[in-house]
Parts: sequence; structure tokens; C-alpha cells
Amino acid sequence: MQDALQNVIENEDRELSREIEGYWDARSHAFSQTRLKELAGPSAAAWTQVLQARLPQGRPLRILDIGTGAGFFAILLARLGHQVTGIDMSADMLHEAKCNALAAGISARFLKMNAQELDFAEDSFDVVVSRNLTWTLPDAMEAYRQWQRVLKPGGLLMNFDSDYGQERFSRKEDQENVHANISQDLVDACNKIKDAVRISTHRRPAWDVGFLQELGMQVEWTADIAPQVHNDPSMHYDNVPLFAIYAYK
Ligand SMILES: C[S@@+](CC[C@H](N)C(=O)[O-])C[C@H]1O[C@@H](n2cnc3c(N)ncnc32)[C@H](O)[C@@H]1O
Repeated sequence: MQDALQNVIENEDRELSREIEGYWDARSHAFSQTRLKELAGPSAAAWTQVLQARLPQGRPLRILDIGTGAGFFAILLARLGHQVTGIDMSADMLHEAKCNALAAGISARFLKMNAQELDFAEDSFDVVVSRNLTWTLPDAMEAYRQWQRVLKPGGLLMNFDSDYGQERFSRKEDQENVHANISQDLVDACNKIKDAVRISTHRRPAWDVGFLQELGMQVEWTADIAPQVHNDPSMHYDNVPLFAIYAYK
């Protein structure tokens, strides 16, 4: 009975993953344009500062950027001289990331991979980073287990995300909004995905902090770093707190 239930959940998650992949493929080009604007503006320096404040200093690090999208973190971290691998399940996003890395003149490795099924040996990375990914994962618990597994002992996970579970995404008329020009079909698809993933039923980051502690990690967190990093007046963000989690293995 337990096995049958597990099979049903796994099949539903697989189906949902296919939908999520299609959604991000469809968003990839416009999404990348917004990230290029972010890279060219003041928030690139603000994000670099946030990351630098926690990164171990004095040596090149092996860093994994999970759900790299158009490569925003991968590019910032490679610019600091680190050896970066960016993974994403969307082939179209990875194409954007590779083009953006080339244009930025940095070198990073980009691989198509599911955040919940990492194809890396344990203890492979000094640091794992992720931004705005966990809210869209069908199985965030398995993702966190995998992320912890590939971190070296003493390694650091930095996760930046928002508690979207009780939010409703809508079309933005404001052209400066980072989510402007998303079609109603895609907005509907996004709400459907958000409502379907289990993580939306939890209040965050409290849930994440508790689960990472259960995995044996030492966790620190900040409720909202948006005032620090959303510092480009020409880019308007949704008014939802952006939490930061720093978890040490
Ligand atoms: C909101 S975007 C964030 C991209 C990037 N981290 C940033 O901050 O610009 C979410 C990204 O996660 C990717 N993604 C979603 N589910 C994933 C999964 N299960 N495994 C790997 N990547 C995933 C999407 O394709 C998309 O590129």
C-alpha cells in the first residue's frame, strides 16, 4: 500500500517536472534579457557582495549553481575566479546561460540536470548556491538531501528564495516590472505549478531551516535581503520578502 502510494506520488512528480521544464523553456529568452539587465546594473555588485560575505576566502572554490537559469550567479562567481558549474533542467535556459557567459568573457561549465537528481559524487563542492528555484520544485526535500550530499564537509549552501505559496502571480502592466510582458497563458501556467508543488503548503523560510537542521546542517538565515539587492531603480520587483539561508554541512 505504502509502495503504491509512493509510486503515484513519483509519477505525479515526473509529470509535473515535464510541465515545469516546458514552462521555463518558454520563459527562457525574455528571462535572460532581464538577467542581462541585472548583470549590467547595480544589483550585480550588490549580489556579489552578498555572496562574497559568506564565501571562504583566499582560494578558488568549486561552486555549484543549481537552477542557474540564464547564468546570473554562475557569471558573478566565475568573475571572482571560482570554478563554477551551473545546472538547469531547461535546455533553452542553458543555451541562454552559455551565450551570456561567452558575452561576459567568463568560463563556466553548464550541464542539463535535475536539481533533485544530482549526478555528482558526494563531497564534490565547496559551495552550493541557488536563487529563486526551490519554490518551483516538486520534491524540495529530496533536492535539499542531494545538495547536502554533494557538499564537502564544512561546505556552504546559500539559498535565496521567497515564500510564494500563498501569493497569486498576475500580469504586470508596469513595463519596468521584472515580470512584465509575460503572457496570461504563462502566468496561469506558473500559478498552476506553484499550487501543485508541496513546498507551497509550507511557510518559508521556517520550513527550509527546520528541514536543513534535520539533515544535520548548521543554519543561519535572514528574512529579507531584497532592500540590499533590489537596488536598481529601473527594475521593479514584486513586493515579496527575499530570504537568505546559509547552511553549513
Ligand atoms: C526563476 S529561475 C531562476 C534562475 C536563476 N537562478 C536566477 O536567479 O536568475 C528558476 C530556474 O530553475 C530551473 N529549474 C526549475 N526546476 C528545476 C529542476 N528540477 N532542476 C533544475 N533546474 C530547474 C528553471 O529552468 C529556471 O531556469
